[in-house]
Amino acid sequence: MSEKNNSNNSNDRSSFSGKLGFVLAAAGSAVGLGNLWRFPYCVAQYGGGMFLLLYVILAVTFGFSLMVAEIAIGRKTRLSAIVAFDKLKPEYSFIGVLASLVPIIITPYYAVIGGWVLKFLWSYITLPASAVAATNENGMTLFSELISSPTEPIVWFLFFLGITIFIIAIGVEKGIEKSSKVLMPILVILIAVVAIYSCTLPNAINGIKYYLIPRSKDLSVKTVLSAMTQLFYSLSLAMGIMITYGSYMKKNINIETSVWQIEIFDTAIAFWAGLAIIPAVFACGNPTNDLKAGPTLMFIILPKLFATMKAGRIVAIVFFFLVFFAALTSSISLYETCVSIIQDKFKQKRTPSIVFTFFICIIIGFLSSLGYGPLSMITFLGMQFLDLFDFLSNSVLMPIVAFFTCIFVGYVIKPKAIIDEVESSGHEFTLKKLFTVVIKYVAPILIIIILIASLLQAFGKITM
Ligand code: PFF
Repeated sequence: MSEKNNSNNSNDRSSFSGKLGFVLAAAGSAVGLGNLWRFPYCVAQYGGGMFLLLYVILAVTFGFSLMVAEIAIGRKTRLSAIVAFDKLKPEYSFIGVLASLVPIIITPYYAVIGGWVLKFLWSYITLPASAVAATNENGMTLFSELISSPTEPIVWFLFFLGITIFIIAIGVEKGIEKSSKVLMPILVILIAVVAIYSCTLPNAINGIKYYLIPRSKDLSVKTVLSAMTQLFYSLSLAMGIMITYGSYMKKNINIETSVWQIEIFDTAIAFWAGLAIIPAVFACGNPTNDLKAGPTLMFIILPKLFATMKAGRIVAIVFFFLVFFAALTSSISLYETCVSIIQDKFKQKRTPSIVFTFFICIIIGFLSSLGYGPLSMITFLGMQFLDLFDFLSNSVLMPIVAFFTCIFVGYVIKPKAIIDEVESSGHEFTLKKLFTVVIKYVAPILIIIILIASLLQAFGKITM
């Protein structure tokens, strides 16, 4: 049934991701604000070196196994997540539904952060670097003024969202994806330059130590949870995206090596971003406060860093332009995912699905935009709206989806189904033993412990 629906819709459905080289397309989706904005503040907040160590361990075991599983499910069924589980075992179609909720929650607040990036780009175009970093007589920075304003974050959010929808509506995603092949390597080089500069500043050494040396006191359930959820976010896992990408993958491509390439590329970019920002916290900021700055960290520290640089304004313009571009390609693929979910699930045409997605974005995006300003008195479990949406998608839904995906692969369709799919390309699946153990035992147990602990903590039952 689902296959038929899907093929009915596919004429009407954009397939930009299918026509590109698989690794590039998947890496394009993976690399975005998660690497540049989210990773550095998570490392800062959750114990530096210990977070980094846990992240890498989880990436090579857990991230690897889950990504192989998702891509193989997609390639086996040739369907997007919302219908793929249904086709394999109708009783488990709920996994596809839960996975599909994730991009619907992330897309709007992603555009809010994209709007902040645009605001900084515009500020550097119109103001000297010292003015962007300055604090006014009321102790407000450009950033604190932005997020406390009742209108400005909304204007920039709508601007960013408008660009995303415009590109999708006129159907030039392919052009954008192509330019990202040129711009992404430039971004990598620029981040490396900024990171090296940041590491040479006085006092930066304390930041480098904080970032690279794991301390046992930082090992906690919270650190493991945040490393795990950051991994899902950054690699676009547990949200159905890799299933959809897998559904476009040719049979002769080696899934295992593709997954390594995506992981290495994605992790390297996040690593450099951390190396640009964390030492700068110690060199130009106030570590006691700034390490806990959360989602605002990048926007607090980078202006201070650029203000100390010789050609700071030019570097900042190029930097924020490239961050904007990375965010835009991810935002397009997120928005496109929401559109195809609505098309597949509710059997809608493309245009009404684009409009419907827009309305969801407006509601969640407005709340997220105003949550640090006029709506800051409204909090849930101590969180502002943007943090709440991030918590719900990353710390609740994604672990649940990942858990059921492991159970589904480990015990329902069995790991052999995935191994056979991987090996159908004619390449041996070298790490199939690791894959089987992680998917059947390690991952589900770890996720359940972490999920329960994080819920207990959110509701104030335990402190970690
Ligand atoms: N993985 C992206 C990032 O790290 O910014 C976020 C993302 C982009 C998730 C695109 C999903 C997606 F379809």
